Amino acid sequence: MTDQTRFLLSENDIPKFWYNINADNPVPPTPVLHPGTLEPVTPDFLSVLFPMDLILQEISTERFIEIPEEVREIYKLYRPTPLLRARRLEKALDTPAHIYYKYEGASPVGSHKPNTAIPQAFYNKKGGTKAMTTETGAGQWGSALAFACNVFDLDLEVYMVKISYQQKPYRRNLMETYGARVYASPTNLTNYGRAVLAEDPDNPGSLGMAISEAVEAAATSGGTKKYGLGSVLNHVLLHQTVIGEEALKQMDMANEYPDVVIGCVGGGSNFSGIAFPFLRENLKNGKRTRLLAVEPTAAPSLTRGVYTFDYGDTARMAPVVKMHTLGHGFIPARIHAGGLRYHGMAPTICALYDAGHIEAIAVKQIPTFEAAIQFAKAEGIVPAPESAHAIRAAIDEALDAKAKGERRVILFNLSGHGNFDMGAYEAYLSGKLEDYEYPAEAVKEAMKDLPQVQLT
Ligand SMILES: Cc1ncc(COP(=O)(O)O)c(C=O)c1O
Repeated sequence: MTDQTRFLLSENDIPKFWYNINADNPVPPTPVLHPGTLEPVTPDFLSVLFPMDLILQEISTERFIEIPEEVREIYKLYRPTPLLRARRLEKALDTPAHIYYKYEGASPVGSHKPNTAIPQAFYNKKGGTKAMTTETGAGQWGSALAFACNVFDLDLEVYMVKISYQQKPYRRNLMETYGARVYASPTNLTNYGRAVLAEDPDNPGSLGMAISEAVEAAATSGGTKKYGLGSVLNHVLLHQTVIGEEALKQMDMANEYPDVVIGCVGGGSNFSGIAFPFLRENLKNGKRTRLLAVEPTAAPSLTRGVYTFDYGDTARMAPVVKMHTLGHGFIPARIHAGGLRYHGMAPTICALYDAGHIEAIAVKQIPTFEAAIQFAKAEGIVPAPESAHAIRAAIDEALDAKAKGERRVILFNLSGHGNFDMGAYEAYLSGKLEDYEYPAEAVKEAMKDLPQVQLT
């Protein structure tokens, strides 16, 4: 069919397996270290925070890991997600490129995050957990875990970065609708939060601080609460590969294969989700798709950060990992893509980037919103500000193809819709947004504060 726009799979096509890049990864994994001793962590340390099934997935090198039937059952509420050809955007750009997007905003909470929230809640329930703790920046991850905890009848407390708590009341209300308790971080509920507030009662919070609070709440609960993280860790990237596995089949339906696959990166999970199955085809089946990660110039961990060992959180309670980092004390500028403001990046992505298997670029905030609006006008969907970074890069690829007269096939992940982010659009439309580049001197300064890791 020549004019087909939507490529839809049936319920039977929901993947039965997640794909584990660590089976095929040409780059050996780097050790994960205890934040106190800086020695490799033991499963005992991790088991304070995570159930055993997730710890085993974290270190697994099995290529395909079966998706439990109970998880597929909940995936049925929104998977398989559609793949669309952006014909109207192609026309607006007058490009010979073919642009496809996988729409993860079709989930109940509007992003890709339930792909991992559902299995995380499932394995916690199976392991006997009664309650979970987590952090959230803009609220996408918190609402996904609130949805999943409700499905599996688990309590949830969410430490929401204070500035977002104030700016995004509807995300907070959504989490509460699913039954979660939401606190503005820094709180006076944890030792770390109290210490921050004692020094600065008006502290706006950061993702690194909220992680510290959520980790402390689980670690000091005497085993009753476990912690869930929405990105960065191997098991999270693993769960997200349902995106790319479906996209492979849908590109086949369209009779095309992508020259470039694009995703925005905060901690790296939606990019990994769409890119890793295509990377497998590169590594094992001779394909040559370019894999492009897109980050904001305001939090440019891959393109400007240093590739070294650093803490995963501000209070130095989370494990130390080797990653591209801006320093664990990173206080982000108030840009409007809350989900892209983390100081580090998934270690697996960093290792692949370092070895040249994936590419990365940083884009500015204002051109990103310009791309978001151009996309919304052509395709109808108002994208999440995070996802708009991928759109900026996809449009630039299409314009580059036009300049070179090439028929390039572009696939990007539309990781979420922006229906709860209208405040950001309002700021853009009224001319209040500014471009911001994180200064190289600040990265240099932050490196003085790194853990002193000596590996033998
Ligand atoms: C819609 C959306 N896209 C992307 C991200 C970035 O996270 P990740 O890099 O883990 O996909 C977020 C994070 O909150 C998000 O909400």
